[in-house]
Amino acid sequence: MLAHKPIETVADAQRRAERKLPKAVYTAILAGNEKGATFRENVEAFEKIGFVARVGGEIAPQRDMRTSVLGQDIDLPVVISPAAAQAIHPEGEVAVARAAAKAGTAIGHSNFAPSRFEDVAAANPKAFFQLYWAGTKDDIAERVERFRRAGAKGLIITLDATMTQPRDWGSPTIPQQLDLPTLVRYSPMGIANPSWVLRYLRHGKLPDLTVPNLQKPGQPAPTMVEGMVEWTNTPLPTWADIAWLGELWRGPFMVKGILSPDDARRALDAGATAIGVSNHGGNNLDTTPSPLRFLPAVVDAVAGRAEVTFDSGIRRGADVVKVVALGAKAALIGRSWFFGLAADGERGVSEVLDAYRVSIDRTLIGLGKSSIHELSPDDLVVPDGYFLKTAGDLPLGAR
Ligand SMILES: Cc1cc2nc3c(=O)[nH]c(=O)nc-3n(C[C@H](O)[C@H](O)[C@H](O)COP(=O)(O)O)c2cc1C
Repeated sequence: MLAHKPIETVADAQRRAERKLPKAVYTAILAGNEKGATFRENVEAFEKIGFVARVGGEIAPQRDMRTSVLGQDIDLPVVISPAAAQAIHPEGEVAVARAAAKAGTAIGHSNFAPSRFEDVAAANPKAFFQLYWAGTKDDIAERVERFRRAGAKGLIITLDATMTQPRDWGSPTIPQQLDLPTLVRYSPMGIANPSWVLRYLRHGKLPDLTVPNLQKPGQPAPTMVEGMVEWTNTPLPTWADIAWLGELWRGPFMVKGILSPDDARRALDAGATAIGVSNHGGNNLDTTPSPLRFLPAVVDAVAGRAEVTFDSGIRRGADVVKVVALGAKAALIGRSWFFGLAADGERGVSEVLDAYRVSIDRTLIGLGKSSIHELSPDDLVVPDGYFLKTAGDLPLGAR
């Protein structure tokens, strides 16, 4: 038996995930709408900002990375972003929740996940529930009460997933259910990826295509496809609807999917206690710039009235340090945890989180800092004109 070699970087986890997963599943988590321009830019954006490396200062023997998000104290400024992990690993988000708890951090749990929020919150009490605006207000109110009872410490409403567009490199179709004809159709995938199949067999289950968090009282859990039909048939929420939701929840409340400072102000008016700066990892409108370019303007607009988090394109601790230096409290990671989970289940996610911890630590040392709380924009080198105030401030053609 070969000795286990821990995952060292997110890129390493991604390579292992690609080897492990059937192509259709790997492609589905990579996603990125249409041409994938935003998906690529999200990652490349971090290379355009540099560090002012410092030497010779006095640095504490242990760097302080502790902070808090949605009222929960966390040991590092990296939080699990809500995303549904269908067909990646039989233990799904429960394994992710355990790994996050071991790393001392929180998890956002997607309403489209195949795991029940109750099981995730039992594995990690620092759990937030994420909703899309789907169904009637009564359905939504019923869900909110269910997740309050299950111990949700915060509520996340995601607004920026308005319409998934087909991808130029192909969008895998999601089957309704895994009945015999479907299994036969997908069997070549299993033959090509025996270790993925074995994993499920060892856990005595098939990939779960239901969305149990959208289950209505007295009905079976809907399939992913049924859940998506309900969601896409529901008119998009207005700010008045978001204010209604905030009133109903009356607790730590994140509006996720904000780019424009104007929308950040509206979210604050609607009762948000946290602004999730994000472009959904490039899964919303393709050619939208990286949210990194909007972050300082949103931080200015929020002016300390709520906390700001950042996601989309985070792949290393240095990226986390950059967004914290620009005023975010923490970074949310999406594909990074998918890759860790696909590569090696709970252990893979733990190793990815550890890679973040080590990388944040080394970056702090390189900047001569003892704590993430000492970071500021002065630690960064930014090209002229890189940050956008609002899209309207840019000349036409450069927006
Ligand atoms: C396959 C996939 C599924 C996702 N599902 C959800 C979801 O159900 N709810 C949500 O708020 N965000 C969802 N997201 C977005 C993530 O929460 C996060 O915003 C994004 O992945 C961050 O970008 P990154 O993957 O570059 O880290 C999803 C992202 C991916 C790639």
